[in-house]
Amino acid sequence: MSDDKTLREDLAGRLTAGGHLRSPQWRQAVLDTPRHEFLRGGYFRRVDGTGTGPTGWEPVMPGDAAWLPASYTDDSLVTQIAGTIAPADIQGRIFRSPTSSSTLPSLVVRMLEELRLDDGMRVLEIGTGTGYSTALLCHRLGDDLVTSIEIDEDVSTRARAALGATGHIPRLIVGNGLDGDPDGAPYDRIVATCGVLDIPAAWFAQTRPGGQILATVCGWMYSSELARLTVDDGAAHGRLLGGQISFMLARPHLPPPLGMLPDLDDGEEREAVIGADALDHWTARFVAQIAAPRTQRIRIQPPGGETQHVFIDVDAESWAALRLDGAHWTVRQGGPDRVWDRIEEHMAHWQRDGSPDLDRFLITVTPDQQTITWDR
Ligand SMILES: C[S@@+](CC[C@H](N)C(=O)[O-])C[C@H]1O[C@@H](n2cnc3c(N)ncnc32)[C@H](O)[C@@H]1O
Repeated sequence: MSDDKTLREDLAGRLTAGGHLRSPQWRQAVLDTPRHEFLRGGYFRRVDGTGTGPTGWEPVMPGDAAWLPASYTDDSLVTQIAGTIAPADIQGRIFRSPTSSSTLPSLVVRMLEELRLDDGMRVLEIGTGTGYSTALLCHRLGDDLVTSIEIDEDVSTRARAALGATGHIPRLIVGNGLDGDPDGAPYDRIVATCGVLDIPAAWFAQTRPGGQILATVCGWMYSSELARLTVDDGAAHGRLLGGQISFMLARPHLPPPLGMLPDLDDGEEREAVIGADALDHWTARFVAQIAAPRTQRIRIQPPGGETQHVFIDVDAESWAALRLDGAHWTVRQGGPDRVWDRIEEHMAHWQRDGSPDLDRFLITVTPDQQTITWDR
């Protein structure tokens, strides 16, 4: 069996060969940082079987043969389910959503490389998780220059222990990272390892002019992308970086409960210009999210009926329901806002401009609003 040093060398080799790990400093950080120490509490292995039922998870603990090698695979390893459950808490399987994980190493190092750090820079990380990415930052910069915020106290406590065991004592905060860290500001870099709907004003207020923010911009239709913004004069602007990056959403940005479903026989019906299947495409779905940023999508299949693709904006009390009638899509819309009209209009602009990929999208954030467009 391989020892963990060999496993780390193999991991660094694969990350280098894949083009994720590019600089000697980050390579050394990967070689010197034992990821398994950040997984001492175990992780959850996916056991979704047929793919038709809800995803199930079962714990893998340090005593299991799979545990050490898995710590050095290029996979995200789930470490908490449903906001409280750690691997040691259950035997057997659990069928709920993950709420904390150790991000796949290729994405961790890609983001660290994208941070373009220089010696002496101060970094604020949002989403400590297991503490693995925090440890890499500490290795590169020194513990004194790293602050990390985690919203979940238990997760933060485990990360503190793992960081201590690997010789690091950064500043760790338990709190809502969307508020940043006013006491420690200004920072040269803010990096988020949870997704956000929009870049919080606190982040660019707490970043030094010329400093940068790296975060994944998400939506409730589950398309997302990594963005790098430069802070300047009370605003931040930059571009999306491409790669179809996804992260679990920051907890305060999770979608609200749907409430009572609309009566799908209400509203006005017309033939749809663009069908719901257009949103199977990652970038098209991102464009739809820009047009209808607080809209959630569900699928409903009435007994013996056609599947309805329902788009609901809970706050605006508006909805659109699409179904395929033979070769044509029909849309029925209700509430004060015409959700599908807006999505169609925005997608038509994007298509007229040649359907550019997300790495041609620009993002600007001011204290009042976030604007994402594409580079024409
Ligand atoms: C993908 S994990 C982080 C992975 C981590 N960087 C690592 O290497 O292990 C995302 C983390 O963000 C945390 N989180 C979610 N919302 C947050 C918020 N508003 N502020 C701070 N942390 C948050 C979650 O609890 C979770 O632990």
